[in-house]
Amino acid sequence: MLLSRKVHTLAALLASVSATPTFRRHVSSVSPRTSSPLPAADYSVAITASTPRTKAKKFMMQALRESQAAQAGSNFTTVVGGSDFDEEYLTNVTFGEQDFLLIVDTGSSDTWAPQVGFACFDLNNNSVPQSTCAFGTSGYDPSASTTFVADPDTNFNIEYGDGEFLTGTVGFDTVIVANMVVTNQEIGVVTDAAWEGDGFNTGLMGLASPNLTSVFEGTDPSADEFPQTQIPYNPVFYSAVQQGVVSNPFFSVALDRGSFAAENSSDLDQNLGFIAFGGIAPVDVTDTAVTVPIQGYNAATFLPQNSSRVTYFYYTVDVELMSFTGNHKVFGTTNNIILDTGTTLDYVPTEVADAFAAAFDPPAVKDEDFGVYVVVCSATVPEFTVNIGGVTFTVDPADNLLPLGIQDDQGNDLCASGTFDGGPAEEGNIFILGDTFLHNVVVTFNIETDEVTLTQRTPYTNGGGGVGAQRRSPESLRRRSS
Ligand SMILES: *[C@@H]1O[C@H](CO)[C@@H](O)[C@H](O)[C@H]1NC(C)=O
Ligand SMILES: *[C@@H]1O[C@H](CO)[C@@H](O)[C@H](O)[C@H]1NC(C)=O
Ligand SMILES: *[C@@H]1O[C@H](CO)[C@@H](O)[C@H](O)[C@H]1NC(C)=O
Ligand SMILES: *[C@@H]1O[C@H](CO)[C@@H](O)[C@H](O)[C@H]1NC(C)=O
Ligand SMILES: *[C@@H]1O[C@H](CO)[C@@H](O)[C@H](O)[C@H]1NC(C)=O
Ligand SMILES: *[C@@H]1O[C@H](CO)[C@@H](O)[C@H](O)[C@H]1NC(C)=O
Repeated sequence: MLLSRKVHTLAALLASVSATPTFRRHVSSVSPRTSSPLPAADYSVAITASTPRTKAKKFMMQALRESQAAQAGSNFTTVVGGSDFDEEYLTNVTFGEQDFLLIVDTGSSDTWAPQVGFACFDLNNNSVPQSTCAFGTSGYDPSASTTFVADPDTNFNIEYGDGEFLTGTVGFDTVIVANMVVTNQEIGVVTDAAWEGDGFNTGLMGLASPNLTSVFEGTDPSADEFPQTQIPYNPVFYSAVQQGVVSNPFFSVALDRGSFAAENSSDLDQNLGFIAFGGIAPVDVTDTAVTVPIQGYNAATFLPQNSSRVTYFYYTVDVELMSFTGNHKVFGTTNNIILDTGTTLDYVPTEVADAFAAAFDPPAVKDEDFGVYVVVCSATVPEFTVNIGGVTFTVDPADNLLPLGIQDDQGNDLCASGTFDGGPAEEGNIFILGDTFLHNVVVTFNIETDEVTLTQRTPYTNGGGGVGAQRRSPESLRRRSS
């Protein structure tokens, strides 16, 4: 798969310390739901002895019409939660009538779950016990779903940027997310999983373009070739638009930064932001905003290209400048930067990452093996800025101190910079604005106009800021702002 093969993981660095974060990178690749603005009116009409039958039927027909009208003009919003040290954003998704928490991923396009009885592998493809994959449930059982239809003679085959890979069969089922009902949605039914789970997610929901999907001809994954044998299909939100269930062809995400304590805990952190389908994620914003085109690619070379004949893969945007407070140099960047909810850190060109780390007080020091910049958690961090479409967006310093759960020799807690060395700014190298950046903006992805709208959020304290988002302890904030 084109899905980046570069693997940067902290797993080995931190292998000796249990319960420490390994930063997630679901490129080619989000939590709790408590409410939906969809008026959940109950249109059922009781047929009682005192209600004449014909009248009841008339009421029912009218109720049905009203309900359909409401559906057709609706947008659907739900909350996301954070798992795995708040590195993954999850939301409730239903396949048929089976409920799962899935990772919300704008860096890939497929929606999948492991099938009950799946085989688990480590990232070196050695067979390991099923529990090692650490899914949140025993899996999806297509045979128990009355709405499931298999898609024979095809296979599902995906690899993510962090080295996780999965294969399996393909089918169609009703997928429900945020009360948005998508019928006959193509899904991956995973039989072989090399997955480093968090104990909560049972798969992933991909929101990127159809041409990035991972279904192939035939039943032998080893014969798959991208794009020669790929059979592209509509991902969940594309189907929703095509089926007319949303009133607008865009979806929107607002991912809250977790509290420092939550980022140091593997528990599921409820209410860590929103995803809205056909609407805008409901958080407080400033009037700093921009709408820019999504950068298309040359399908053959997989390089960004400007022309009328482009293929869309990721939510790639042209980033004009990157800088940070106190810096006299401004970095021109590359046109191959993607907006990815499924990646924890920002992956920026080496020279930017190095200069930024050096500006921490005390400086953050790069771990040469893993590319991550390590610093004491009490460090003072400059404000990182990203200029897109002539508008400058700022990254809260709090997003650039992620607790590693380990201490230095003096017993000081160690943190990692949220900004990672993504390699040299060379053609073909994909860079990422991940959760570090996304904590600071509302991003609205329009799949009809192929544009994204970025809106700077009102500064918020860790884990707060959103309507209904839970406020966290001020104690964690004090530790963070130094
Ligand atoms: C998922 O749905 C359940 C049941 O409605 C709810 O209790 C839970 O908070 C939701 N979790 C997430 C992460 O959305
Ligand atoms: C993993 O090993 C199996 C054989 O056990 C092989 O068929 C498959 O191609 C391997 N997958 C990868 C991604 O190497
Ligand atoms: C979504 O629906 C609500 C309620 O109908 C409405 O107020 C809002 O303007 C809609 N549109 C967007 C883009 O969120
Ligand atoms: C596409 O055009 C824009 C505006 O002219 C330019 O900034 C960008 O670098 C171009 N991208 C490519 C891949 O040529
Ligand atoms: C998908 O790829 C095909 C073949 O390159 C191209 O014709 C089509 O326009 C692409 N669709 C999108 C949405 O990028
Ligand atoms: C993170 O949690 C570990 C134990 O779970 C604790 O030793 C460490 O001090 C905590 N780190 C921070 C930065 O709070």
